[in-house]
Amino acid sequence: MTKRVVDTVVLGGTVVGEGSTTQAAVAIDGGRIAAVGAPDVMPEARETIDATGLHILPGVIDVHVHFREPGLTHKEDWETGSRAAAAGGVTTVFEMPNTDPPVDTVEHFELKRSLAQTKSLVDFGIYGLLGEHNLSSLEPLAAAGVCGYKLFLGNTTGDLPCPNDGAVLEGFETIAALGLRCSIHAENSPILFWRQNRMLAAGRHDPLAHLAARTDVVAIEALCRSAVLAEWTGARIHIVHESCAGSLPYIRFFKERGVDMTVETLPQYLYLSAEMTTGPDGQMLRMNPPVRQASHQEPLWRALIDGTVDMVSTDHAPHAVEEKQGERIWDVACGMVGVETSLSLMLTAVANERLDLPALVRIMSAAPARAFGLYGTKGVIQTGADADLVFVDVARQNTLSADHLHSRGKSFPYAGMEVTGVPVRTLVRGRTVALDGNAVGDPGWGRIVRPHMPPAAPRNVATTTRAILQPDAVPW
Ligand code: DOR
Ligand code: ZN
Repeated sequence: MTKRVVDTVVLGGTVVGEGSTTQAAVAIDGGRIAAVGAPDVMPEARETIDATGLHILPGVIDVHVHFREPGLTHKEDWETGSRAAAAGGVTTVFEMPNTDPPVDTVEHFELKRSLAQTKSLVDFGIYGLLGEHNLSSLEPLAAAGVCGYKLFLGNTTGDLPCPNDGAVLEGFETIAALGLRCSIHAENSPILFWRQNRMLAAGRHDPLAHLAARTDVVAIEALCRSAVLAEWTGARIHIVHESCAGSLPYIRFFKERGVDMTVETLPQYLYLSAEMTTGPDGQMLRMNPPVRQASHQEPLWRALIDGTVDMVSTDHAPHAVEEKQGERIWDVACGMVGVETSLSLMLTAVANERLDLPALVRIMSAAPARAFGLYGTKGVIQTGADADLVFVDVARQNTLSADHLHSRGKSFPYAGMEVTGVPVRTLVRGRTVALDGNAVGDPGWGRIVRPHMPPAAPRNVATTTRAILQPDAVPW
């Protein structure tokens, strides 16, 4: 019998899973993990990587990035964005549909897919838009291969109109039957526009006026409305960028009721606060939902640890430096970069004993993989899974700086911050795409991911908008 020879064996590292931290070797073949175990039972390998002193984590899955292409490439494109991801230990990104054109049709999906396919260093999913004007495209978009949908209930970059509640209900009815998850920007548009206009009329142009316009109830109301419609229809939802302590009891309530709802928060809400917006460059922190008062941080940390909030994503939202400036806060672009620094920031929380490494793996890899139907192939280090790995030095210190960013967005709120814990090598399907903070992978290596969601579980199907349009429909 010929001896098996694999592509790579990684020796000397500590493999981290959701439930364990183990000294183990990892064998990689054909882009997949071939074995995890004691070094002496590893097959022979063409290449050996020494990971002595390093921790090996499943690659980070960031389900919320804006890579801006097509249409807004002065802010970012698939190559710069995915280089940033690779350098930050992120092996899969889900990219948002508020590009130009938005991903509202199969044709626009295919346009983005071909761009990503030729330019991305890391694996990717592409969201389809759930808008009032494209309800008839939701099913074709699923067939074409979107990773899920994005619903903008609150306005943001791109000014995509917020669908009315009737359209949202009909959209949820459709996606409930498809089984894919819908990510929701949960802010109440009429309230935030009303208050913004009141602030403008009163001559308020300072950074805190943005927070005042989008005060807590703006987020809480939209979250609850989304969850009620999700419960009614059986649609799976994901609340993006949860910023608000006041939302947490409602999240617990709806999860306890069995609503299939997952929730993310962002490092921005854990590390930055509205109090900082009064300092120099305070306008840089403008984003939607706004960075809130520091009093929200502790409850959000606790909710992450107890699982109320499932995961950390980044809402990586790059803009040109000039776009992040303005005399009036209303003229400053919303959003900030993050895909490159989220892992370091969360490792710093590990160094500060706020969470442990298995919890970090749950929050940044396993939970996003589970929520979006990738778990098993991604989000875990086990035989048969994709060899998406990030090697981290948990003790290494670093000062964050805009100069080191691969992203085109150089307006950087964490400049000067000291972090403990650095990704030193990133592998996507067995290939090294970043080394020592530099992206070294090839554009075009990234592949689109295919979600395998559990069977769809639609509810109240006899009274959906489509059902009641049937001539013989009985409305109960
Ligand atoms: O501040 C934000 N910017 N929030 C979002 O939800 C979107 C993002 C963007 O696309 O710039
Ligand atoms: Zn976003």
